[in-house]
Amino acid sequence: MPMPSTTSRRTLLPLLAAHPGGRSSATCRYRCGDACSQPVPNTSDNTYFGDVVQTAIRRRAVLTGGGAALAGVAWAAAPQPAVAAEDLPDTDHRLRGFPSIPPTPADVDDLVVPRGFTWAPVISWGDPVEPGAPAFDVDHQSVEAQKGQAGYNADYLTLRLDGDRGWRSRRGVIVFNNEYTNPEMMFPDWDGSVTAEQAEIEMAAHGMTVVEVTRRNDRSPWTYRRRGTRNRRIHAWTTFALDGPAAGAAWMRTGADRSGRRVLGTLNNCAGGDTPWGTVLSGEENFNQYFDATDAPDPEGRLARYGITSAGRGWEQADPRFSLVEEPHEVNRFGWIVEVDPDDPGSTPVKHTALGRFKHEGATIRLAQDGRAVAYMGDDERFDYVYKFVSRRRYREGDKRHNLRLLSDGDLYVARFTGDGFQDGEYDGRGEWLPLIVDGESHVDGMAVAEVCTWTRLAADTVGPTKMDRPEDVQPDPHTGRVYVALTNNTARTPGQIDEANPRAANKFGHVIEWREQGDDAAALRFRWRIVLVAGDPSDPGTYFHGTDQREVTPISCPDNVAFDGEPGHLWISTDGAPGTLGTCDGLFRMPTRGRDRGLVEQFLSVPTGAECCGPVISWKDRSVLVSVQHPGEGGQSGYPYLGDSVPRPGVAHVYPRRG
Ligand code: FEO
Ligand code: CA
Ligand code: CA
Repeated sequence: MPMPSTTSRRTLLPLLAAHPGGRSSATCRYRCGDACSQPVPNTSDNTYFGDVVQTAIRRRAVLTGGGAALAGVAWAAAPQPAVAAEDLPDTDHRLRGFPSIPPTPADVDDLVVPRGFTWAPVISWGDPVEPGAPAFDVDHQSVEAQKGQAGYNADYLTLRLDGDRGWRSRRGVIVFNNEYTNPEMMFPDWDGSVTAEQAEIEMAAHGMTVVEVTRRNDRSPWTYRRRGTRNRRIHAWTTFALDGPAAGAAWMRTGADRSGRRVLGTLNNCAGGDTPWGTVLSGEENFNQYFDATDAPDPEGRLARYGITSAGRGWEQADPRFSLVEEPHEVNRFGWIVEVDPDDPGSTPVKHTALGRFKHEGATIRLAQDGRAVAYMGDDERFDYVYKFVSRRRYREGDKRHNLRLLSDGDLYVARFTGDGFQDGEYDGRGEWLPLIVDGESHVDGMAVAEVCTWTRLAADTVGPTKMDRPEDVQPDPHTGRVYVALTNNTARTPGQIDEANPRAANKFGHVIEWREQGDDAAALRFRWRIVLVAGDPSDPGTYFHGTDQREVTPISCPDNVAFDGEPGHLWISTDGAPGTLGTCDGLFRMPTRGRDRGLVEQFLSVPTGAECCGPVISWKDRSVLVSVQHPGEGGQSGYPYLGDSVPRPGVAHVYPRRG
C-alpha cells in the first residue's frame, strides 16, 4: 500500500463524537440545526413504491440469513450486475495518475496527498479580500473587518479561468461559498452563547467569497490577488434581487422591503454550479436554523415541512428579521438558488424563485438539445426529493444579457425512480420527471405557480416523487450527459421503507445513482437509472463499486460533492461523514464510470481531522486539484492551514505536482 505524503503529519487527537448521520455533533448543530436529531420533515404519505421490489428484497434477505440482513444491509447477497453492452470497455488505458493514499485515521491533523504531489493554502478564513480589509487577527475581529475578509467554512468552489487557453491559463477567479460558522472555534472567548456583536460577525462570515487568483506555471500553486479588481465579499447584508414567479408575492414582503423583491443576504450556501454564460450558482441549504420560530403560528404546517421549528442561533438579538414573530415573511426569502456574476463585482446577485424553494444543496446546468438550460437540484433532507428545472428560453452563445434571464422562467419537475425488481441482478429501473409547473401553469391542485415555487416541498408531496436518502450534488458528466446524484446517507430509513433506488435500511454510508435521460436530452421527461456505488467498507458484502473487484478499492463513506475532471467518465467524489462511519478522515476519491477501471475507487487526498472535503475542482490535464477544507478541527482541534494561528481557518487548498 502506498504511503501518504509525510511532509506535515501532526498531532493525534481524540476521535470525534459522531451523530447518527456520521458527522460530528458540532457540525450537526451549527450547519444543519441538528437536522438528523429532529423529526423527519417529510410526513407526506407518498408510498414507498416498490412493493414488488420489497418482496424481492425480503425474499433475498430470508435466503441469506434474514433478520440481520434486513435490519442492516437488505441486499447483502445480491449478484453482481451484468455488464450492459453500452458499458463494455471503450478504452484500454488504466486510469492511473496518482498512487491512491490509504485511509487516514480520523484523528490525524494533516492534509494528506499522494506521493508526487504537494499542497498549499490558496485563501483561508479572514484573509483580506476587499480593499482596505485588515489582515486576519483572531483577537481583534470586528463586523467591518469580516465584511471585507474571506468568509468562514468554504464549501462549493469554482475556478473560472481567464482567456481562451483552457487549463494553461495562469489567471482566473475563484468563487467559494461560506456555508456556516463555528462560533466555538471562531471566538477565543466563546462562552456558549452568542453576543449581538458575535452574531453580526457570524453574519458577515456567511455568504460567498470571490477572489482573483494567479499561478506561475503548472508546478506552482494558485495564489490569490489581494488587490484583484473582481474581489468581492457577499454576506448577510448584501442586496439580492428576487426574480421569477414568487418575486413580489405578498408573503415575500417585509417591513424593510415592501416590494418583496429585495433581500439582504444569502445563508447556508452549500454546493453550487457554473453556468455556460459565466455565472455561478449557489444553493441556500439549511436556512431554517437561523430563524427563531418560538411562538410562530404554523396552521398549514409550512414551517414544519421546512424544519423551521427551532429557537434560531441568537441572531434575532442583532437583527429582528430573524425572529418569525417580529418578521414572519423574512424566512420565505431564503431557501433559493442564487446566481452571482463573478466578473462584475458591482452586479446585484439574484435569487431565482423559478427553481423552487427547499434545502438546496446546489444546482448544475446542462443545455438541452434545443438549447434550453436545465438545472439539476437536490433537496438535502432525509426522505426528500431530486428536482429539475427547464428554462423557457434558449441559451444564446455570447449573449450574456439574454442568458442572465434563463433561470427566471421555466418548468419545474420532481423525480420518481421506479425499480424493475432485483431479479435482473441490478439495482436499476426507469424514472420520470413529474411536472409541478409547465408552461407557466401549476400542475399542483390548489396551489398557484408562485405558491409552488415558495412551498415546493409541499407541492411535490402531492405528486408522488421518490423519497431519497438525502440528495446532495446532482451533476451531469459534461462528456456523456449521464447524471450522477450523491445520496449521502439516511439512517432513519427503516426496512419497510426501502426501495430499489434507496435499497439500504439505516443507510449510514450513502450511495450514488447514475441516470441517462431519454434520447440523451437533458430536457427529456423520462430516464433510466442504476446504482453505481453503494458506499462503505468494500469488505462489507453489502457495498457495491460498479461491479469492480472490491479487493482493489478503498473504503468511502457519505458521498457529498461530485465533480468531473475534464476526461470522459472521471467521476470524483468528496465525502462528509467518514469520521463517524469509517473512523477515517473525509477525503476526495476518483471513481471512473466507464472503461476497464469502472468502479475502481481510489483515494486522492484526505482533509484534516474534523474537516469535510468540499467543492473539488479538478483539472486532470495538469494534475491540479482544488478543494475546500471545511470546519477543520470541528469537535476537536486542528492547526489547518498550519500558519501558526491559534484557531483553525477553513479555506481553499490547492494540490499540485511536486517539483522534481
Ligand atoms: Fe451542506 Fe448538503 O451539505
Ligand atoms: Ca433491477
Ligand atoms: Ca454538501
